[in-house]
This record gives sequence, C-alpha cells and structure tokens, in this order.
Amino acid sequence: MNATLQLLKSHSSVRSYSDKPVSDELFNEIIAAAQSTASSSFIQACTVIRVRQAETRSKIAAIAGGQSYVEKAPVFAVFCADLARAETCCALHDQTINSGFLEHFIIATVDVALMAQSAVIAAESAGLGICYIGAVRNNPQAVTDLLKLPKLVYPVFGLCLGYPDNATECKPRLPLTTVIKDEYYTADDEPAAIAGYDTTMRTYYAARSSNQKSTGWSEQMTSLMTKEARPHMLEYLRSQGFCEK
Ligand SMILES: Cc1cc2nc3c(=O)[nH]c(=O)nc-3n(C[C@H](O)[C@H](O)[C@H](O)COP(=O)(O)O)c2cc1C
Repeated sequence: MNATLQLLKSHSSVRSYSDKPVSDELFNEIIAAAQSTASSSFIQACTVIRVRQAETRSKIAAIAGGQSYVEKAPVFAVFCADLARAETCCALHDQTINSGFLEHFIIATVDVALMAQSAVIAAESAGLGICYIGAVRNNPQAVTDLLKLPKLVYPVFGLCLGYPDNATECKPRLPLTTVIKDEYYTADDEPAAIAGYDTTMRTYYAARSSNQKSTGWSEQMTSLMTKEARPHMLEYLRSQGFCEK
C-alpha cells in the first residue's frame, strides 16, 4: 500500500488536541493545497473563515451543542458555500446573477465538501488531527450573523484542527462488497451484510478505549433516519438566496 492509501485508511476524527500551536504558515499551506481540488465549472465556491476570537468560538461551540473542541482546538474554521463571489463576477460585467437554483446549491456544496476533504488529507499528512463540525447548522442563522455572511453564502460545516493529544482508533467501514456494485444497483445482499457489519461495529464500540457503547450501525441509522433532520435548513437556505427554484 502506498503512503497516500495508508494515510487515507488511518483516518479517524480527533476531538482532543495538544497545546502545540498550528502555525499560520501551515494552515495557509493546507488551504492552498486544497484549492487545487477540482471545482464544478471552476466556480471555486468555497470560502474558509478562520475563527480566532475566543468569544465567537464559545458561541459557535454552544450552537454546536456544547462541543468543547470547537473552543479548544488550536484552529477552528468554518467552510462556507459562497456564490456571492460569482455574483460579484456578474456585477463586474454589468449583469445580474440568476441565482436560487437548486443546482447552484448542489454545485457550491459539493465544491466545499471536496475542498475541505482535500484540506483534511493535507492536514493529516502533516500530522494534524481533524474533526468536522456539521453542528454549526444547528443554528445557521446565528452562525451567519456571527461571521457576517452575506446573501448567497452559507456555513456548510466547521473544521477543528490540531495535533492529537492521544492515539485514536479507526472506525471500521461497511464491507467493500456492499459499497461497490457491479453494473447495476442491487440490494439483495444488504440485509445480511448490514447484520454482519452490526456485529463488527458492536465489537468495535465495546472494545475501544473511550466512549464505549453497545450498539450496532443499523440501530444508529434507524435512530437518525426516523427523526427530523434540522427542519429549519430549507427556510434558512432560501433566506440566504439558495434553493428557491
Ligand atoms: C460533514 C460532517 C459533519 C460532522 N459533524 C460532526 C460534529 O458536529 N461533531 C463531531 O464530533 N463529529 C462530526 N463529524 C464526524 C463524524 O462523526 C465522523 O467522521 C464519523 O463518525 C466517522 O468517524 P471517523 O471520522 O473517526 O472515522 C462530522 C463528519 C462530517 C463528514
């Protein structure tokens, strides 16, 4: 296995960091490398807001349900989907942006996810640990106000970065045979494969060094997928100029 494959396979989210600072130089290098990521129609719709002020961090940590690492991580940044820049392009050519298409929302969000994941790989290759913070969307309007986001910009997720203060264990993923399908979609084997994976996950959760629990993956998914998921998002996104048509 080459070094890149090894790095990818050794990922696990890190939620506890040492005091060792992450230099601005390294952070900038990580984001510059991530900027080379492919971008749909070359729209480059990702804006990264690095949040340094303790008060803002503390407010975002509270919005994120009290996730203390948002406050404590050496670096916390919010990855935003940004079509305001495209609007500026149109204005530079005396045109008005035809915004609000669901397709634009998908393009911008995918751009952010791809660039962020490149940043994550770059960071991990430099010995840093990371944790995505989707919980900034618990109250996206409050985050929008704190970060002074204009229309056509929304916070997709936050990202904590820092040097890990202890080793973390990799979470087993679904069997490859479930994820890769040949030629066409079939789910005939899925119930048995999921049952097998539940056993793997139960063993992993029981044996890991912290936060042990007794659950399988399908129970977790059932609990997640039978309740509402941030139902405020549609109205919020529309108020920011996304998903209108
Ligand atoms: C978009 C996104 C949002 C996430 N949000 C959070 C979060 O708010 N808090 C958290 O502790 N972990 C968060 N995670 C981390 C996932 O829980 C984690 O990636 C998953 O459980 C797999 O574990 P691993 O990354 O250690 O392999 C998020 C991950 C992604 C990709």
